[in-house]
Amino acid sequence: MSTINVRESGLREATTDWVASLSVATDDVRREASARLDPRRRVQMGQFLTPSRIATFMAGMFDCRKSEIRILDPGAGTGTLCAALVLALCQRPTRPAMIAVTAYEIDPLFVGYLRETLDRCRIACEAAAISFRWNLVEDDFLEAGANALAGDLFARGERERFDCAILNPPYRKIRTGSRERSLFRSIGLETTNLYTGFVAVVARLLVTNGEMVAITPRSFCNGPYFQPFRRYFLREMRFRRVHVFDTRDTAFAADKVLQENVVFHAVKNTETNPAVIVSASAEPDDADLRMRTIQHEELIRPHDHHAVIHVVPEEDGEATRDRISRLEGTLFGLGLTVSTGRVVDFRVRDLLRSEPGTNTVPLIYPCHFGQGFVEWPKSETRKPNALVLGPKAEELVVPEGYYVLTKRFSAKEERRRIVAAVYDPARVPASQVAFENHLNYFHLRGGGLSADLAKGLAAYLNSSLVDRYFRQFSGHTQVNASDLRSLPYPTHSEIIALGRRIGECFPTQEEVDSLVGEVLFHD
Ligand SMILES: C[S@@+](CC[C@H](N)C(=O)[O-])C[C@H]1O[C@@H](n2cnc3c(N)ncnc32)[C@H](O)[C@@H]1O
Repeated sequence: MSTINVRESGLREATTDWVASLSVATDDVRREASARLDPRRRVQMGQFLTPSRIATFMAGMFDCRKSEIRILDPGAGTGTLCAALVLALCQRPTRPAMIAVTAYEIDPLFVGYLRETLDRCRIACEAAAISFRWNLVEDDFLEAGANALAGDLFARGERERFDCAILNPPYRKIRTGSRERSLFRSIGLETTNLYTGFVAVVARLLVTNGEMVAITPRSFCNGPYFQPFRRYFLREMRFRRVHVFDTRDTAFAADKVLQENVVFHAVKNTETNPAVIVSASAEPDDADLRMRTIQHEELIRPHDHHAVIHVVPEEDGEATRDRISRLEGTLFGLGLTVSTGRVVDFRVRDLLRSEPGTNTVPLIYPCHFGQGFVEWPKSETRKPNALVLGPKAEELVVPEGYYVLTKRFSAKEERRRIVAAVYDPARVPASQVAFENHLNYFHLRGGGLSADLAKGLAAYLNSSLVDRYFRQFSGHTQVNASDLRSLPYPTHSEIIALGRRIGECFPTQEEVDSLVGEVLFHD
């Protein structure tokens, strides 16, 4: 027994040394490799490498207790992620007997660094008495993965499956006719971004109960473009943890990548409704990390055919959801439609005028938003104020009336994500109006709303309640028409009651919030 203890403690020391040297080395290698990248190719290939503190955070999420663990790192870059997982396994009190890493990397620039990292992993495993095998595949992961899934023989003649996958997939939009789109289609997936395609292929390559931890943009959690992906993923996988980095520049700050990122841990097993940890912090090792445990059915409601993923790490987030779920209206039920502004200005340059004149109609941009109402014309703006009427403009205009407009892209400094304003025909004398494409507009079968409905709707959309609710599922500053369609709404009579409380001057934020509380929830 004592011999074992002496051997164990020696092993632990040796392992600790290698662990320390490996984590320092992976960050050095990452920095050196990143500095050598050509900026344009970097964006094209999605080459934003994970800092080791985030990789360690991700590696700590795996549960796998198998004695032989096969790890997949698709798009491995310099190998920071698989190295972090190997290290985490080396440091466990009960270590696996064997680790095998398969790392895919398409860019020759990274391959030398990756080989170096994998060799360091081998040494760390040797020190921890773990047998280690690695397979560096200098090839396209998507092609290999899709072929394997289509039934072809994988790589070297065997059908390989994995127990654990750790990934930071490349992010890039993919066009309809692209090679990637047809690869994804060959495995039954329609998706518009490379990263969701990577995640889907990985999910399919896992064994039953296999685990994946990935860092990705938050964008897959909502919106119509990612809906087929969410459904595809949920056919096989269940989330166990979703962590949001709630500042946009945490994960890839050094690379100036500004987007909200999530790290998620998911397991290939759909038999249960498992508990899910949802958490948020600015940094992975933040003392302020907020965390709570919910049921999977709260993360994704079973009857939500959009399969929106609600990441609500705070208890008061639940209160927001409860409150909003008491609303009984829908946009459809209100008889309203939301559409994107029809004027794409660079396509109709010849029709744009900086000032209104004869034979023009008002052209409304986000810059025309004032205090809850559209203020038009604006002479201090560089945007045109008017659109020339004529045959080309016929389809671009809507009839005079009250409309509710929202910005499609809220500015970073804006307090709320959804910013709404009432287009009041009494303030803009014109028999028709055109809305620019950076706006969404609510209408009633192509025409205007009643004044009370428009004012009530704008007040509801501008409330802090809607803002808090919206942030639970949207990680970006973009507000799509589909997001607005899927929001819960008050009933028609409630919106009218709210609208009647709004005069000629739009209320302040505090007033809007207390009106919404009073009229809709009888606070
Ligand atoms: C976002 S980086 C992440 C790298 C590494 N996993 C990390 O976290 O530091 C994505 C990596 O995938 C690689 N890559 C892009 N497309 C690939 C493909 N089709 N097959 C294999 N690797 C690919 C890129 O060269 C890049 O190294």
